[in-house]
Parts: sequence; C-alpha cells; structure tokens
Amino acid sequence: MALSSSSTAVPSPPPPPARPAIGRLLQLALLRVVARAVDVVVLLPRPALLRLWWAGVMAKPSPYTQGFPLLIESRRHGVPVADFVYGEVFVAPTRRLLRRLGVGPGAVVVDLGCGRGAVLVASSSLGARARGVELLPLHVGAIAARAAAAGVEVGAGDARQADVADADVVWVSWATWAPSTRLAVRARLHGLRAGALVCAVVHGVDDVVLDAGLGSDGMFETVDTVRLWCSWGRATVVISRRC
Ligand SMILES: C[S@@+](CC[C@H](N)C(=O)[O-])C[C@H]1O[C@@H](n2cnc3c(N)ncnc32)[C@H](O)[C@@H]1O
Repeated sequence: MALSSSSTAVPSPPPPPARPAIGRLLQLALLRVVARAVDVVVLLPRPALLRLWWAGVMAKPSPYTQGFPLLIESRRHGVPVADFVYGEVFVAPTRRLLRRLGVGPGAVVVDLGCGRGAVLVASSSLGARARGVELLPLHVGAIAARAAAAGVEVGAGDARQADVADADVVWVSWATWAPSTRLAVRARLHGLRAGALVCAVVHGVDDVVLDAGLGSDGMFETVDTVRLWCSWGRATVVISRRC
C-alpha cells in the first residue's frame, strides 16, 4: 500500500555544505602558495638551503603514491599509519619563532619527525646546527643529498629512541601520532639538559601525560603558547622548558 504524502515521512537530512569545503581547499591552496613564495624570498640569499627546501617541496608526500610503503613502515615499527600523516611548517614563520626563542649560531635544534626538513631549513638559516630524525625512509631519501650539501644532518631513525642530550631546542610535530608514541617520545625528552626548550605542535609535553591519565612529572614548565601558520592552517605550538 502506498503511503500518502501527508504521512510521517522522515525528512531527508540537508545536503552537506559543498561550498565551505571547496572554499577551505582554495584557502589552503592560496595559503601554501603565498607562504611558500615568502619562504623562497627568505631563502634566496641561502642557495644551499633553498635547494634543500625545494627538494622537500618536490617530494610531494601523497597518500596515494605512498600508501603501500606507509603500510610496510607502520607494521615494521608497530605504529598506526596515522603516525605518518603529513603536514609541515612554513620556513619564514618558524624561523621568526625560533629566533625569538634565542636560536642562533651555535645552537643545536633537533626535529623529531623532521619529514621533508622545513624546521631544519628554518633553524639552519639562523646559523644553528640542525639535526632531523625521521622514521620514513621516503622522506629521508628525498632530502638527504641536499641536506648534506647544506650542512644539515638528517637521519633515518625513530624519535622514540632519539638522543637529545645536546639539544637547545627540540621540535616535535606529533599531533597525529598515537598516544603511546607521544608518551615514548616524551620519555626521551627527559634526557634534555635543564633550560632546553621543546616546541610541541598541538599537544604540549604535559598534555601528553595528562591525556594518558597520568600526572605531570614536573619536569617541564610551559613558557609560551603561540599560533603558527602551517601547511594545514594555523596550529598551536606549546613551548616548554626542561626544569
Ligand atoms: C607532521 S610531520 C612534521 C614534519 C616537520 N617536523 C614539520 O614540522 O614541518 C611528522 C613527521 O613525523 C614522522 N614520524 C612519525 N612517527 C615518527 C617516529 N616515531 N620517529 C620519527 N619520525 C616519525 C612522520 O613520518 C612525519 O614525517
């Protein structure tokens, strides 16, 4: 029997807002073009770093081309594929932030999960000794030669086993990492000397233990929280000092 049009038909849900999604994509595309143009200007006087940065930009970490290698790496290291979700900082705003934190010639900056090396480029452009640790060989392979030519150290390795004893500043962009990965990396940060700084993207070092239901161990104090333009939009960077 056909239902009459006046029956209690469930109203269909409104269609998803297509325009905002497209608008957001366009905004992101524009952000990347403008921010990268600024990065080129900043790096023009530093050709070796510009070449390193360019190698990274051209590496294009696409989930389609990297899907299978990501699965292999995720199984090999016992981490979810989400740990490899890619996003990166822009050089110019990161450089400004690092300079404000006192990074300059002689400072040691370590990026745990350095990806295509944007933080390393920003640090090295200030005269710092920049060292990156990256789990994905694809990223390391894409920038290793140019990094060596620019005097930047990049190594395949696991942030959960990294040695940061000599670092003045550690950068860690761990927003998509599993809570267990973040906890293990945080434990490595205990090896920092007193006074060293940690720039942690989205989750501060103490958020990591609090989110896991553990109490703060009092080893870090938050000194600042800043908003930084990154490839996915504006992100919070929590800056903490090792006590
Ligand atoms: C969000 S990207 C950040 C890239 C770069 N640090 C930046 O801020 O521009 C995070 C990177 O960490 C890497 N990664 C994930 N787990 C890791 C681990 N346990 N050890 C080292 N690198 C890791 C990923 O492959 C990815 O390249």
